[in-house]
Amino acid sequence: MNKIGIIGAMELEVEELKSKMTLSNIRKKAGMEFFEGALNGAEVVIVRSGIGKVNAAVCVQILADDFQVTHIINTGVAGSLNAKLDIGDILISRDALYHDVDAVIFGYRLGEIPQLGTREFPANERLAALAKTSCERVNPGVHAVIGRVVSGDQFISKKEVKERLISEFQGDCTEMEGAAIAHCAFLNHIPFVIIRAISDKADDSAQVEYPVFEKAAARHSARLVEDMLGELK
Ligand code: ADE
Repeated sequence: MNKIGIIGAMELEVEELKSKMTLSNIRKKAGMEFFEGALNGAEVVIVRSGIGKVNAAVCVQILADDFQVTHIINTGVAGSLNAKLDIGDILISRDALYHDVDAVIFGYRLGEIPQLGTREFPANERLAALAKTSCERVNPGVHAVIGRVVSGDQFISKKEVKERLISEFQGDCTEMEGAAIAHCAFLNHIPFVIIRAISDKADDSAQVEYPVFEKAAARHSARLVEDMLGELK
């Protein structure tokens, strides 16, 4: 049977899912609480990882080692890098990569970790397709795009930085965990998808937009994840 690990970096990204699940157990490790149980007919482990790449990677490794999850879904919010993605819209990962890795001096591409053999971490195509279908079902009117997540340990809020992430990496959204989740899932051969609702435009307006829209955006993403679980039991 499938066991789905669901990760949100912040409480507001997982609180709705946790409130709807049938809880069987809570296990604590590395400062995180892993909520085991069932949601929409699927066996799940729901966890708030904390913010940033290291928290995200540690979380995935625990889901792999201690819970033997078969799939990983990352739900949350992101800044838009794509003019077609407005606040409240949804980006579903085709792939994810780091925007803050630089070993160019040794001949690697910007964003590529040396000796790993890949810069992009491809998401599972079936999970991405399921997410798109679920979005059409539960968030009608919300525009959903399958595209590229670019991640780093930075909140992007300057136009020049945003433009660099678009020109260097062709990113569709930016956030602070997705590529680390993808990287760790890749190392452990676990299929994953990242689902991010847009909370801001990752430019000079982000500081004002983000606090206004983060909660509604997080809810869009969580509602979609709940629906998807019906297909993953
Ligand atoms: N999460 C939501 N918006 C973001 C942004 N602009 N930069 C990084 N992470 C984010």
